[in-house]
Amino acid sequence: MTLKQVLDQARQIFTTNRIEDASLEGEILLRHALKIDRAGLYSELDRELGADQKDVFWNLVQRRVSGEPTAYITGRREFYGLDFYIDHRVLIPRPETELLVEKALELAQTRTMVAVADIGTGCGAIAISLARHLPRLKIYASDVSADALEVARINCQKHGVVDRIQLRHGDMLEPLPEPIDLIMANLPYVTGEEISRAALADFEPLIALNGGADGLDKIKRLCEQATDKLSHNGGMLLEIGLGQSRPVVSLIYRHFPSASVEVIPDLQGIERVVSLCLTPN
Ligand SMILES: C[S@@+](CC[C@H](N)C(=O)[O-])C[C@H]1O[C@@H](n2cnc3c(N)ncnc32)[C@H](O)[C@@H]1O
Repeated sequence: MTLKQVLDQARQIFTTNRIEDASLEGEILLRHALKIDRAGLYSELDRELGADQKDVFWNLVQRRVSGEPTAYITGRREFYGLDFYIDHRVLIPRPETELLVEKALELAQTRTMVAVADIGTGCGAIAISLARHLPRLKIYASDVSADALEVARINCQKHGVVDRIQLRHGDMLEPLPEPIDLIMANLPYVTGEEISRAALADFEPLIALNGGADGLDKIKRLCEQATDKLSHNGGMLLEIGLGQSRPVVSLIYRHFPSASVEVIPDLQGIERVVSLCLTPN
């Protein structure tokens, strides 16, 4: 079988199994199996696939059909233009989370920031993207999962920011030694019921998803802790799930009555980020 025929067959299998972007998925997995880039693949479409390579590829296709996300199979995911190492110890970073980075970069243009923190850093995507764009910031990245911090460490090395990001193990803001000017957090916000209904934790770590009965357990705790740790003119950017903006905004006003608060939609129009600033620009 040629590479082209193998790709066609994989596309049919993915389509039958209702896997989105069937052609692209096949291409990514074949490139991963053959360890070649896109240009290499397309210049060799008429080449015959060796027996060993065929076995490797069909095994990857089988894993994908059984529901394993492509990022875990290939061990990588792009976020904010950077390539991150990913494995089962961390959540796969989502495109909508790039909004947190965009907003943080906007805020950095108008406000003085010395120390910022990415709480629940997972693979380190938010902290590392920020470090690559704002080389003078002091950045903390915390996670309660020591396993996740190992993955973040690998990514800090990969992107040359080991000296720029202080990884801290612990609960939310507790391990941070100083007041923080900007807290960014994509904490778990899925409800326990949603997780079991959609079998969401079959591949991704439960600790990265579970926000408790109403999805807001972690965000509530972060807001409580932030009253002590946010600097007097600081800000906070929180990623939220569908329908969570009202409870999160009231929660913020309860803890920070004079804050200015904004709710920012993602590209699909879903309210995705709540931004809080303690003093106006
Ligand atoms: C939704 S994932 C987000 C990962 C990454 N920031 C991203 O956007 O891809 C949430 C992360 O929060 C971490 N986490 C859960 N509870 C925490 C806590 N109490 N303190 C710090 N991190 C926590 C999880 O281990 C997980 O890595």
